[in-house]
Amino acid sequence: MEKIQVKNLVKIFGDNPKRGLKLLEKGHTKEEILAETGLTVGVNDVSFDINANEIFVIMGLSGSGKSTLLRCLNRLIEPTSGEVKLGDSNITSLDKKELRDVRKHKFGMVFQNFALFPQRTILENTEFGLEVHDDITEENRKEKSLDALEKVGLKGWEDKYPDELSGGMQQRVGLARALAVDPDILLMDEPFSALDPLIKREMQDQLLDLYEELNKTIVFITHDLDEALKLGDRIAIMKDGEVVQVGTAEEILTDAKNDYVREFVQNVNRSQILTAEDIMIKPEDLLYENDGIKTAKYKMKRNGLSSMFTVKGKRKYRGIIRLENLIDAKKEKKDIKDLIENTKTARPDETLDELFGDMADLDVPLPVVDKDNNLLGIIVKGTVLSNLAGEDD
Ligand SMILES: Nc1ncnc2c1ncn2[C@@H]1O[C@H](COP(=O)(O)OP(=O)(O)OP(=O)(O)O)[C@@H](O)[C@H]1O
Ligand SMILES: [Mg+2]
Repeated sequence: MEKIQVKNLVKIFGDNPKRGLKLLEKGHTKEEILAETGLTVGVNDVSFDINANEIFVIMGLSGSGKSTLLRCLNRLIEPTSGEVKLGDSNITSLDKKELRDVRKHKFGMVFQNFALFPQRTILENTEFGLEVHDDITEENRKEKSLDALEKVGLKGWEDKYPDELSGGMQQRVGLARALAVDPDILLMDEPFSALDPLIKREMQDQLLDLYEELNKTIVFITHDLDEALKLGDRIAIMKDGEVVQVGTAEEILTDAKNDYVREFVQNVNRSQILTAEDIMIKPEDLLYENDGIKTAKYKMKRNGLSSMFTVKGKRKYRGIIRLENLIDAKKEKKDIKDLIENTKTARPDETLDELFGDMADLDVPLPVVDKDNNLLGIIVKGTVLSNLAGEDD
């Protein structure tokens, strides 16, 4: 899987766009250039990287250049200047044949209004993307298409026609068509914008499932901030053809570069963005399964704690031990292992919203563990509350 690198990319629409380049270099704005020359600056000197296997979201107002930028990545729109690289290969300098090959094998595209052919069955619509692949047999094409339809949850629908499917299902066919080719990179231009909110959320979940399952880089355009935050590993925000900020959801929320970005993120609910990982702290001290009763008591006293978390080995999470249970333990000849209580745990990617429910009836902190049950940190109730309270800042 290869990284995409975009360097000083410019797209100017109109006759003799090189005139526009000169003006851009002199610092003229998109507006000025339009007024002076009638040329439209679609993308203005954009540089960034898209990591292999990430979901890279592009956001911005209508006309800010999102679709133009996306289409420059595989040269469906020919850039006026600048460079797009895929791994070591320079997309911008490929000849026609090389470009066709790269497009065919590396890129898949999904659009908002995915024009399905009404006269073709769902299977035939899905096969469409593979028809240009003359190295694939008919049988193979069918197999790949059926497989893709199954991936998007449309098994059993292959012989229906588009008008027999709901909007969400039609969009799934569009996605299946792109997936059938098994490209490394999916370019998605507002694929879910026309869907109603519930279906849209379903599609987002499904895309995330597919993303986990398949090894792909996804470039995803949206107007919808919630969608961007939900899907994006990183988000690029565009204005007047320029990329004004690239960052993780968290970076964009907490460290907006300018007012334009701030406006975008104004109304986001922090409780849905911040995760356990963001607010967990290091425990003061830990008990180890092999600690004796005396050591355990001593550690609690020293730290002024009435309970402590216990780990096995270096940090395999085992549970909690309460001071009151230690007090009588010696008489009963109990081992520290007998005193460990199971508690609720949280995953690092749980949101504040989800955590709040978990913590409501807890009288001890909430341990955060990874999928191998290693203790990563703990969350104290107060932190959750104060972060929720800070919602408006
Ligand atoms: N084929 C074209 N010819 C001339 N100008 C164009 C062309 N395509 C796009 N533009 C201009 O380039 C700029 C960027 O358009 P683009 O379609 O990339 O915006 P967008 O961010 O995708 O908008 P939307 O959210 O409405 O889809 C706009 O000013 C638009 O008018
Ligand atoms: Mg667009």
